[in-house]
Amino acid sequence: MNLKNVPIVTIDGPSGSGKGTVSRLMHKELGWHYLDSGALYRILAFSAESKGIRFTEEAPLAELAKALQIQFIEIPNSEHIGVYLDDREITTQIRTEEMGEKASKVAAFPQVREALVMRQRAFLQAPGLIADGRDMGTVIFPEADLKIFLEASLEERAERRYNQLKKSGVHVTLQSLFSELSQRDMRDRQRVVCPLKPAEDAIIVDTTGMPIEAVLSVVRRAFREKGFI
Ligand code: C5P
Repeated sequence: MNLKNVPIVTIDGPSGSGKGTVSRLMHKELGWHYLDSGALYRILAFSAESKGIRFTEEAPLAELAKALQIQFIEIPNSEHIGVYLDDREITTQIRTEEMGEKASKVAAFPQVREALVMRQRAFLQAPGLIADGRDMGTVIFPEADLKIFLEASLEERAERRYNQLKKSGVHVTLQSLFSELSQRDMRDRQRVVCPLKPAEDAIIVDTTGMPIEAVLSVVRRAFREKGFI
């Protein structure tokens, strides 16, 4: 099959911008493939830690990134997707704020990012792909048919994350989440390779104050304008 004709939609943005929720819902709604690129960096950090590789060792981290045996498996009737490393389920272990922080450290290395390029491009399959991350529209799929960049104020993103974690029984303070998110944001936006930024041809949506349904309706309209719905 000629992959040139397979539609690609990229949804980039900082943590807590709603991109994960929107991407997963659109993936379910359209039955397109879904790339959660952040999960790859989280899995790498998790695996490095369990193998005793330090987050400062670029070359061993890049080698590990090439060798990871990863599977994403849909969970029936759930918005979530099961994550497996070497046949071991690690879905919840990689979702912590701490693992997000570690992921952003390994993600700052050029060799690590390079090692994951082909793995990410391999998600492109018919009938279409929704790619969620930081550099989907700028670096991994610059040829995407539709690029969306979701933003929101730091305060609101911290609050959304706080409510999500509270719901799932994880106890953190809003203040600590706020400072963790702000540090991670700074690292992601200021790194030399593939920093978090909108592609020049991205539609930028500031979701501050918008309920998820309102964000979804903006996103659906963009899909409709491209003839994907
Ligand atoms: O999106 P998520 O919070 O799971 O991403 C975790 C971390 O992985 C981000 O803070 C970022 O540093 C890194 N990441 C990245 N490029 C991507 C996706 C995630 O650098 N495309």
